[in-house]
Amino acid sequence: MWVCVPQVYLVLLVGMCQLCGSVSVSSLLSGNSTIAEVFNVIENALESVNLLNLIPSLENNNGNPDQYLNTPELIEKYGYPAEIHTVTTEDSYILTVHRIPYSPKSPAAPNKPVVFLQHGILSSSADWIILGPENSLGYLLADAGFDVWLGNARGNTYSKKHLSLSTSDSKFWDFSWHEMGIYDLPAAIDYVLEQTSQPDLYYIGHSMGTTMFFVMTSTLTEYNSKIRLMTALAPIAYMAFVKSPISKFFGANPLTKPLVRMLGINEFLPNGKLTSSILGYVCSDGSIIQQVCSTALFALCGYNPQELNTTLLPVLMSHAPAGSSAKSFLHYAQDMNSGSFRHWDYGYIRNLFRYGQLSPPEYNLSAITAPVRLLYSDNDWFADPRDVYKLNQSLGNSVGEYRIPLDSFNHLDFVWAIHVKTLVNDEVISFLENY
Ligand SMILES: *[C@@H]1O[C@H](CO)[C@@H](O)[C@H](O)[C@H]1NC(C)=O
Ligand SMILES: *[C@@H]1O[C@H](CO)[C@@H](O)[C@H](O)[C@H]1NC(C)=O
Ligand SMILES: *[C@@H]1O[C@H](CO)[C@@H](O)[C@H](O)[C@H]1NC(C)=O
Repeated sequence: MWVCVPQVYLVLLVGMCQLCGSVSVSSLLSGNSTIAEVFNVIENALESVNLLNLIPSLENNNGNPDQYLNTPELIEKYGYPAEIHTVTTEDSYILTVHRIPYSPKSPAAPNKPVVFLQHGILSSSADWIILGPENSLGYLLADAGFDVWLGNARGNTYSKKHLSLSTSDSKFWDFSWHEMGIYDLPAAIDYVLEQTSQPDLYYIGHSMGTTMFFVMTSTLTEYNSKIRLMTALAPIAYMAFVKSPISKFFGANPLTKPLVRMLGINEFLPNGKLTSSILGYVCSDGSIIQQVCSTALFALCGYNPQELNTTLLPVLMSHAPAGSSAKSFLHYAQDMNSGSFRHWDYGYIRNLFRYGQLSPPEYNLSAITAPVRLLYSDNDWFADPRDVYKLNQSLGNSVGEYRIPLDSFNHLDFVWAIHVKTLVNDEVISFLENY
């Protein structure tokens, strides 16, 4: 989920530092902050980002070398084969799909089962490899004999091309996870199945990677038969119980749009080289701000310091945020407001024109016939267990819920936790192997 990407907190937190305590982290932590306070923090954060951009010397910060490698470079550095594929969607976006076809522990062979991994908002394919071969799901799946494909949603670092538009056209950014669900996923899945000559694949999504899936399989129901099993990590469809303090801000309709405009009408948090190195720098070991970085992260994502490897923060933050459209955030904001999982809300009059009804239609979750397994955790402030329960009841073919057996486990921990291997990945893989 976007608000769980560290740079968001970093931006917020740098703003807080600038404010010199006019909004304390503890007031955000308590969840009692008012919309005005959060608004202030963001406004000031924006100013401080501009200030930071004026300090080029920070770019010489040479921390962990992994900060400067992209997904395929990282994969090769750790001794795995990496492939780069491009896929063009029906509406002309050009996406990059990364692949780990086999592993040193499981050599190339025909007809390996295919698994497709889809990252969350503001993230990229790097999510699945960032903790290295010992821990990250991408490598562990390759070791277990799977042919591993890593999607990149339109608008992120690796998927910024279009047949006729450029990223400076605001039309390029006129999409939310709805378009990712009806265009990006079908194009990528068809491409992968064709390349591998397989009839179906295993799908694993985190956060927005699950939302996109639910959009696709409820809308283009013919895709259900192409999914052998969907594993949903921190699934996001219903958002009635989102706990993060930032949701109070985004949930407040009149302020949401101006805020997103302020943050950049088109692209939200691009992963610029300079921004990355600055954010890497301020959160690196030995930096006095590191503690504040992790505190801000927890303030918005759920508190779980035991599972965050602060040494890795600079690397994590050099790969996320990887950019997305403002409209994706607004679409989530609409769902937080309505408590429903539904199409984009254009407002009464345009809804009537487009959908033939005043409110947008809901995505029909009961039409999803692909088997779906939901993995959730108690301390996830975005995928609240109550929302996940409702989702489980709504799906056409749930194969059950699995609660991560650690009370403090949060939304981000599904990708970045120190013990993500034993708590999540081993469970995911053993279920796949027996399914
Ligand atoms: C944190 O990450 C560093 C760098 O990859 C690694 O050396 C260290 O073992 C990790 N710490 C824990 C507790 O996993
Ligand atoms: C939703 O899907 C189910 C199962 O395919 C179908 O029976 C039902 O009519 C659909 N509902 C709507 C509102 O389209
Ligand atoms: C989730 O849904 C499945 C299928 O309807 C059901 O068997 C299972 O008991 C549900 N899990 C929970 C926790 O309600």
